[in-house]
Amino acid sequence: MDKIKEHDYIIIFSEGRKYCVKADRNRNFSTKAGNIKLKEVIGKPYGIEFKKHFIFKPTLEDILLFGLKRKTQIVYPKEAFYISHKLDLKSGSKVFECGTGSGSLTMVMATHVAPSGYIYSFEKEKKFYELAKKNLESFKLYNNVKLFNKDIQEGVRFKNFDAAFLDVKEPWRYIDLVYSLLKPSCMLGIIVPTTNQISQLMSAFNNKFGCLEILEFLQRYYKINPQRIRPDDRMVGHTGYLVFARKVIRKKKKND
Ligand SMILES: C[S@@+](CC[C@H](N)C(=O)[O-])C[C@H]1O[C@@H](n2cnc3c(N)ncnc32)[C@H](O)[C@@H]1O
Repeated sequence: MDKIKEHDYIIIFSEGRKYCVKADRNRNFSTKAGNIKLKEVIGKPYGIEFKKHFIFKPTLEDILLFGLKRKTQIVYPKEAFYISHKLDLKSGSKVFECGTGSGSLTMVMATHVAPSGYIYSFEKEKKFYELAKKNLESFKLYNNVKLFNKDIQEGVRFKNFDAAFLDVKEPWRYIDLVYSLLKPSCMLGIIVPTTNQISQLMSAFNNKFGCLEILEFLQRYYKINPQRIRPDDRMVGHTGYLVFARKVIRKKKKND
């Protein structure tokens, strides 16, 4: 049975809410349901009921939603897990990412390329680079990540990536660069919050990328009252649009 160790991150669940807390023996944690002395849960098995709370081991989704320190907009689990699947990430994949931001998507992609692949993630702002590094280290997800505090406009000295992802304001500026980094046939994914950005992107793809797909994910939770199981009144209406395209090598025309 998996037991709670000191300094583990744990999920404290009470009244439908989750809190991600480090099990530090000198700390207490309070919720509406009461106060927990964290030293009292150390050594207990995960999943226990403890003073009107349940204590769980955090899943990767819990880490993104409740554990990660955020100072940027992040890619949410509903998109991040699909992105990793769509980019066809597997152990050994070599992935280019810009920007790292708080490291949310980096964490998910890193788990998909482990144990032998790497995410090469670029972040131009030192404060976000440091934050992402700390987040990745705190949750022991740094092993399969190479993090660079660098603006990709200055160039990227690596090549032959199996997949690429851009989460930046003006992704159309980097299409030529990404083309030069990716292996042919491999997938580029991009997230943008507005449709105007998609229009600009489409012109930038020119004849370098094909097999274009544009999609979004709407996620609706349900009320869990057994007598009234029905959709929640509120939902997150919009996060971002996803764009995927594959690197193509066009046939040379006679007069090219
Ligand atoms: C929305 S955040 C990325 C969030 C990240 N995907 C996550 O899930 O936490 C966008 C980041 O891209 C970085 N960025 C924008 N342009 C960049 C460039 N040319 N080179 C490196 N980083 C860049 C920004 O500094 C910002 O931190």
